[in-house]
Amino acid sequence: ILPDALLFVLSVFFRKIFILQLVGLVLTYNFTDCDFEKIRKKYQEVIYQALNKYMNGVKSTEFNNYIYCEDPPDCLAKIDLITFYPTHGCTTLAKEIFAIRTNATLTLQCPGYSGTQINNTQAKKKRKKRQVTTNKCRKQVSHLMELWRRFSRISKQ
Ligand SMILES: *[C@@H]1O[C@H](CO)[C@@H](O)[C@H](O)[C@H]1NC(C)=O
Ligand SMILES: *[C@@H]1O[C@H](CO)[C@@H](O)[C@H](O)[C@H]1NC(C)=O
Ligand SMILES: *[C@@H]1O[C@H](CO)[C@@H](O)[C@H](O)[C@H]1NC(C)=O
Repeated sequence: ILPDALLFVLSVFFRKIFILQLVGLVLTYNFTDCDFEKIRKKYQEVIYQALNKYMNGVKSTEFNNYIYCEDPPDCLAKIDLITFYPTHGCTTLAKEIFAIRTNATLTLQCPGYSGTQINNTQAKKKRKKRQVTTNKCRKQVSHLMELWRRFSRISKQ
Protein backbone atom coordinates (compact mmCIF):
# COMPACT_ATOMS: atom_id res chain seq x y z
CA ILE A 1 0.00 0.00 0.00
CA LEU A 2 1.38 3.40 -0.99
CA PRO A 3 1.35 6.22 1.54
CA ASP A 4 -0.92 9.16 0.66
CA ALA A 5 1.97 11.55 0.26
CA LEU A 6 3.59 9.36 -2.35
CA LEU A 7 0.31 8.97 -4.22
CA PHE A 8 -0.04 12.72 -4.24
CA VAL A 9 3.45 13.23 -5.63
CA LEU A 10 2.81 10.61 -8.28
CA SER A 11 -0.47 12.18 -9.35
CA VAL A 12 1.21 15.57 -9.74
CA PHE A 13 4.02 13.93 -11.66
CA PHE A 14 1.67 12.24 -14.11
CA ARG A 15 -0.38 15.37 -14.59
CA LYS A 16 2.82 17.19 -15.55
CA ILE A 17 3.73 14.45 -18.01
CA PHE A 18 0.26 14.59 -19.49
CA ILE A 19 0.52 18.36 -19.95
CA LEU A 20 3.94 18.03 -21.56
CA GLN A 21 2.55 15.50 -24.00
CA LEU A 22 -0.27 17.84 -24.99
CA VAL A 23 2.18 20.71 -25.39
CA GLY A 24 4.14 18.49 -27.72
CA LEU A 25 1.02 17.85 -29.74
CA VAL A 26 0.16 21.51 -30.02
CA LEU A 27 3.56 22.94 -30.80
CA THR A 28 3.81 21.56 -34.28
CA TYR A 29 3.68 24.76 -36.26
CA ASN A 30 6.79 26.84 -36.95
CA PHE A 31 5.95 30.56 -37.06
CA THR A 32 9.19 31.66 -38.75
CA ASP A 33 7.61 32.43 -42.13
CA CYS A 34 4.72 34.56 -40.90
CA ASP A 35 4.25 38.15 -42.03
CA PHE A 36 5.08 39.78 -38.69
CA GLU A 37 4.38 43.32 -39.85
CA LYS A 38 0.82 42.47 -40.91
CA ILE A 39 0.23 40.51 -37.72
CA ARG A 40 1.48 43.47 -35.68
CA LYS A 41 -0.97 45.78 -37.47
CA LYS A 42 -3.88 43.42 -36.81
CA TYR A 43 -2.88 43.22 -33.17
CA GLN A 44 -2.98 46.98 -32.89
CA GLU A 45 -6.21 47.32 -34.85
CA VAL A 46 -8.42 44.57 -33.43
CA ILE A 47 -6.75 42.07 -31.12
CA TYR A 48 -5.51 44.51 -28.51
CA GLN A 49 -9.02 45.93 -27.96
CA ALA A 50 -10.55 42.47 -27.71
CA LEU A 51 -8.00 41.43 -25.09
CA ASN A 52 -8.68 44.57 -23.09
CA LYS A 53 -12.40 44.00 -23.31
CA TYR A 54 -11.97 40.46 -22.02
CA MET A 55 -10.05 41.76 -19.01
CA ASN A 56 -12.96 44.10 -18.34
CA GLY A 57 -10.99 46.69 -16.41
CA VAL A 58 -8.71 44.27 -14.59
CA LYS A 59 -5.16 45.48 -15.16
CA SER A 60 -2.74 42.85 -16.41
CA THR A 61 -0.22 44.26 -13.93
CA GLU A 62 -2.34 42.80 -11.12
CA PHE A 63 -0.92 39.44 -12.06
CA ASN A 64 2.71 38.55 -11.74
CA ASN A 65 3.85 38.14 -15.27
CA TYR A 66 7.13 36.37 -15.69
CA ILE A 67 6.39 35.42 -19.21
CA TYR A 68 8.97 36.05 -21.87
CA CYS A 69 9.46 35.39 -25.54
CA GLU A 70 12.68 35.53 -27.47
CA ASP A 71 11.83 36.54 -31.01
CA PRO A 72 8.67 37.04 -33.07
CA PRO A 73 8.20 33.35 -33.96
CA ASP A 74 8.69 32.36 -30.32
CA CYS A 75 6.15 34.97 -29.21
CA LEU A 76 3.60 33.70 -31.70
CA ALA A 77 4.17 30.10 -30.67
CA LYS A 78 3.53 31.00 -27.02
CA ILE A 79 0.52 33.13 -27.93
CA ASP A 80 -0.86 30.26 -29.98
CA LEU A 81 -0.33 27.82 -27.13
CA ILE A 82 -1.97 29.95 -24.43
CA THR A 83 -4.84 31.06 -26.66
CA PHE A 84 -5.87 27.69 -28.02
CA TYR A 85 -4.62 25.13 -25.56
CA PRO A 86 -6.85 24.36 -22.55
CA THR A 87 -5.15 24.58 -19.17
CA HIS A 88 -6.15 23.50 -15.72
CA GLY A 89 -8.60 26.03 -14.28
CA CYS A 90 -9.15 27.74 -17.58
CA THR A 91 -10.18 25.08 -20.03
CA THR A 92 -10.64 27.24 -23.05
CA LEU A 93 -10.20 30.70 -24.39
CA ALA A 94 -10.55 29.58 -28.01
CA LYS A 95 -14.14 30.78 -28.36
CA GLU A 96 -13.42 34.30 -27.16
CA ILE A 97 -13.41 37.19 -29.62
CA PHE A 98 -9.69 37.87 -29.27
CA ALA A 99 -9.00 34.18 -29.95
CA ILE A 100 -11.14 34.13 -33.07
CA ARG A 101 -9.33 37.25 -34.31
CA THR A 102 -5.96 35.73 -33.46
CA ASN A 103 -6.86 32.59 -35.35
CA ALA A 104 -8.08 34.56 -38.37
CA THR A 105 -4.92 36.69 -38.39
CA LEU A 106 -2.52 33.77 -38.08
CA THR A 107 -4.45 31.82 -40.70
CA LEU A 108 -4.05 34.71 -43.15
CA GLN A 109 -0.45 35.71 -42.38
CA CYS A 110 1.22 32.39 -41.62
CA PRO A 111 1.59 30.07 -44.60
CA GLY A 112 0.17 26.65 -43.84
CA TYR A 113 -1.30 27.61 -40.49
CA SER A 114 -4.87 26.44 -40.22
CA GLY A 115 -5.77 26.90 -36.61
CA THR A 116 -4.23 24.93 -33.81
CA GLN A 117 -4.92 21.33 -34.51
CA ILE A 118 -5.15 19.57 -31.22
CA ASN A 119 -5.25 16.00 -32.32
CA ASN A 120 -6.86 14.85 -29.13
CA THR A 121 -10.52 13.97 -28.58
CA GLN A 122 -10.50 14.97 -24.93
CA ALA A 123 -9.13 18.42 -25.68
CA LYS A 124 -11.74 18.86 -28.41
CA LYS A 125 -14.54 17.95 -26.03
CA LYS A 126 -13.33 20.49 -23.51
CA ARG A 127 -13.09 23.19 -26.14
CA LYS A 128 -16.79 23.10 -26.95
CA LYS A 129 -17.97 24.80 -23.78
CA ARG A 130 -17.60 28.54 -23.56
CA GLN A 131 -15.50 29.39 -20.55
CA VAL A 132 -16.87 31.53 -17.78
CA THR A 133 -14.38 34.23 -16.95
CA THR A 134 -12.43 33.03 -13.97
CA ASN A 135 -9.43 34.55 -12.36
CA LYS A 136 -7.30 31.77 -13.82
CA CYS A 137 -8.47 32.76 -17.27
CA ARG A 138 -7.73 36.39 -16.62
CA LYS A 139 -4.25 35.41 -15.59
CA GLN A 140 -3.82 33.52 -18.86
CA VAL A 141 -5.07 36.52 -20.79
CA SER A 142 -2.73 38.82 -18.88
CA HIS A 143 0.08 36.57 -20.08
CA LEU A 144 -1.24 36.89 -23.60
CA MET A 145 -1.23 40.66 -23.32
CA GLU A 146 2.39 40.60 -22.21
CA LEU A 147 3.39 38.34 -25.09
CA TRP A 148 1.52 40.43 -27.65
CA ARG A 149 3.05 43.63 -26.29
CA ARG A 150 6.50 42.17 -26.57
CA PHE A 151 5.80 40.74 -30.02
CA SER A 152 4.57 44.12 -31.17
CA ARG A 153 7.71 45.82 -29.85
CA ILE A 154 10.29 43.43 -31.24
CA SER A 155 8.64 42.84 -34.61
CA LYS A 156 8.67 46.52 -35.48
CA GLN A 157 11.02 47.17 -38.40
C1 LIG B 1 11.66 27.09 -37.43
O1 LIG B 1 12.32 27.12 -38.68
C2 LIG B 1 13.51 27.91 -38.67
C3 LIG B 1 14.03 28.01 -40.10
O2 LIG B 1 13.74 26.87 -40.83
C4 LIG B 1 14.53 27.28 -37.72
O3 LIG B 1 15.72 28.05 -37.69
C5 LIG B 1 13.91 27.28 -36.32
O4 LIG B 1 14.77 26.64 -35.41
C6 LIG B 1 12.56 26.55 -36.32
N1 LIG B 1 11.94 26.74 -35.01
C7 LIG B 1 11.39 25.75 -34.33
C8 LIG B 1 10.80 26.10 -33.03
O5 LIG B 1 11.38 24.60 -34.73
C1 LIG C 1 -9.41 28.83 -36.98
O1 LIG C 1 -9.86 29.24 -38.26
C2 LIG C 1 -9.99 28.18 -39.16
C3 LIG C 1 -10.30 28.76 -40.53
O2 LIG C 1 -11.27 29.74 -40.48
C4 LIG C 1 -11.06 27.21 -38.66
O3 LIG C 1 -11.19 26.13 -39.54
C5 LIG C 1 -10.64 26.70 -37.29
O4 LIG C 1 -11.64 25.88 -36.73
C6 LIG C 1 -10.37 27.86 -36.34
N1 LIG C 1 -9.80 27.32 -35.12
C7 LIG C 1 -10.19 27.73 -33.91
C8 LIG C 1 -9.50 27.12 -32.76
O5 LIG C 1 -11.07 28.55 -33.75
C1 LIG D 1 -3.95 12.89 -35.89
O1 LIG D 1 -4.24 13.47 -37.14
C2 LIG D 1 -3.68 12.78 -38.23
C3 LIG D 1 -3.95 13.56 -39.50
O2 LIG D 1 -4.87 14.59 -39.32
C4 LIG D 1 -4.27 11.38 -38.30
O3 LIG D 1 -3.71 10.68 -39.39
C5 LIG D 1 -3.97 10.68 -37.00
O4 LIG D 1 -4.60 9.42 -37.00
C6 LIG D 1 -4.47 11.47 -35.81
N1 LIG D 1 -4.05 10.85 -34.57
C7 LIG D 1 -4.87 10.69 -33.55
C8 LIG D 1 -4.27 10.06 -32.34
O5 LIG D 1 -6.03 11.04 -33.58
